[in-house]
Amino acid sequence: MEYNRRKFISFLGKASLGAIIAPPFLISCGNNTTPTTLKGDSKENLERLKKVILESLPPSDKDDLLLTKGLDYHTIIKWGDKISNEDTFGYNNDFTCFLPFHEKNPKDGLLWVNHEYINPLFVSNFDFKKHENPFQHRTIEQVDKEMYNVGGTIVRIKEENGKWKIVENDSHNRRITAKTQIPLNWDTPIKEKSTVIGTNSNCSGGITPWNTFLTCEENYDGFFGETEYDKNNIATHRPSKYGWEKFYQYPPEHYGWVVEINPKDGNAQKHVALGRFAHECCTLYELADKRVVAYTGDDSNSEHLYKFISSKPSSLKEGTLYVADTINGKWLPLDWENQPILKATFKNQTEVLIRTREAAKLLGATELNRPEDIEIDPITGNIFISLTNNKDKNDFHGSILKIEEKNGAFDALTFKASTYIAGGEKNGFSCPDNLAFDLSGNLWITSDMSGNAMNREDKPYISFKNNSLFVIQRYGKDAGKVIRVASAPKDAELTGPWFSPDGKTLFLSVQHPGEQTKDKNNPTSKWPFDEDNIPKPAVVAITGDLIEKMNLLNQIEV
Ligand code: FEO
Ligand code: CA
Ligand code: CA
Repeated sequence: MEYNRRKFISFLGKASLGAIIAPPFLISCGNNTTPTTLKGDSKENLERLKKVILESLPPSDKDDLLLTKGLDYHTIIKWGDKISNEDTFGYNNDFTCFLPFHEKNPKDGLLWVNHEYINPLFVSNFDFKKHENPFQHRTIEQVDKEMYNVGGTIVRIKEENGKWKIVENDSHNRRITAKTQIPLNWDTPIKEKSTVIGTNSNCSGGITPWNTFLTCEENYDGFFGETEYDKNNIATHRPSKYGWEKFYQYPPEHYGWVVEINPKDGNAQKHVALGRFAHECCTLYELADKRVVAYTGDDSNSEHLYKFISSKPSSLKEGTLYVADTINGKWLPLDWENQPILKATFKNQTEVLIRTREAAKLLGATELNRPEDIEIDPITGNIFISLTNNKDKNDFHGSILKIEEKNGAFDALTFKASTYIAGGEKNGFSCPDNLAFDLSGNLWITSDMSGNAMNREDKPYISFKNNSLFVIQRYGKDAGKVIRVASAPKDAELTGPWFSPDGKTLFLSVQHPGEQTKDKNNPTSKWPFDEDNIPKPAVVAITGDLIEKMNLLNQIEV
């Protein structure tokens, strides 16, 4: 199948899947033009791109968000900010996605933000370390506060005079939390329910061609634990880190899914067909006949990479889930009906999807070093997957995996896998996590060295200092080199990079600043330096001359 670059160009900037469809309510993120209005890759523009020089920041352990020359930032929203009379912005923001209301105005639209997890020290005023049995000393009110602060936020934002601001009390503003009722998009109930309570561990995500948000439940076992099976298939409950199941007995099987959110009304649904595991993200491609291909990885040591191919147009319900054998370059179907080994172990397809990891292993899926974000290269159509690290296998710095589907067909069942770039001192970055291609096809990468390992003499991350944002330029004399363009505050991770459709803003989350704080009165970070004097996760807008120059190609005409 010939790779259709003209169609694919609409994926630039991480989204824009809806560009071809031109939906009436919202247009997509990223480049939202039709091919006829693209500025395109003229010789002149390519020459201009080749002349963009990025100055690499040195590694820094300063408690601030530092940016390279040509970039500025301002904070759009931070933890606890009011979005309406009823609701406030949640904690630990990760994935962001911006959908403008109108094609001709990329400066007014809806921002979706994931809230992945909580730090009880700040959120519920509970210090786990001070109590031998935390669950006897924690009240249900404290747990309720924690449950409110995960999930996601929809908030209208507008840019005026170069600054993005939230529109407080806009009718679209709302929270999705660990208590929101969410139906399962599946005909068989799971643990007797067809509608489940809440979403949690919302890490990264994606967008659908029909312009809804996808938010992925990653480390769900941290909230309600996990059901584990021994060799005789006897189930036991592994307790969670946060112990919510001591207060609310919701089954672990209700979490670990890809969740779709309708921006218009906040209605949510969980997509069982995409399997249950620590979903980092979900990256969609729409085929010519409107069937979709969804790539999604399981961010846990030695887990797997998956892809779902729908059998019907615009469906995340009907279709087949595959898992990658990257050694032999094969997508293996997790199909109970046609896989005798699955039939011998599981009762039905629903059980295969609930226990996806076990099913994948039975089929011989390749163990990977924690697949994180997945992006599709807008120029080549290759799929890039961050493999952040796998300390159990002595991979401390991770790498980026490249998948080339057979003949460039996204619904192919065979592919070639190779390492695109490895983390480590030579390439100047470690633990790649989120990825984003900008409108010109430069690759932006965030790092996620864990807070308890950064800036420590006894760990292999000392030379990298704080987590950062990097760019690999596609053009010019430094093409292929990894350049550090932003450095995060203390203990923080930069997540959720998302380009505005005009290529003039990079939305970015600053997650878990000050996470290593032991004493609230003496936090390790005070970013974003507001009057409360405590660290707060926040979403920022990165703007400036440099970002506009980098996003030269395919900006929309307004
Ligand atoms: Fe929540 Fe895999 O990062
Ligand atoms: Ca991540
Ligand atoms: Ca990570």
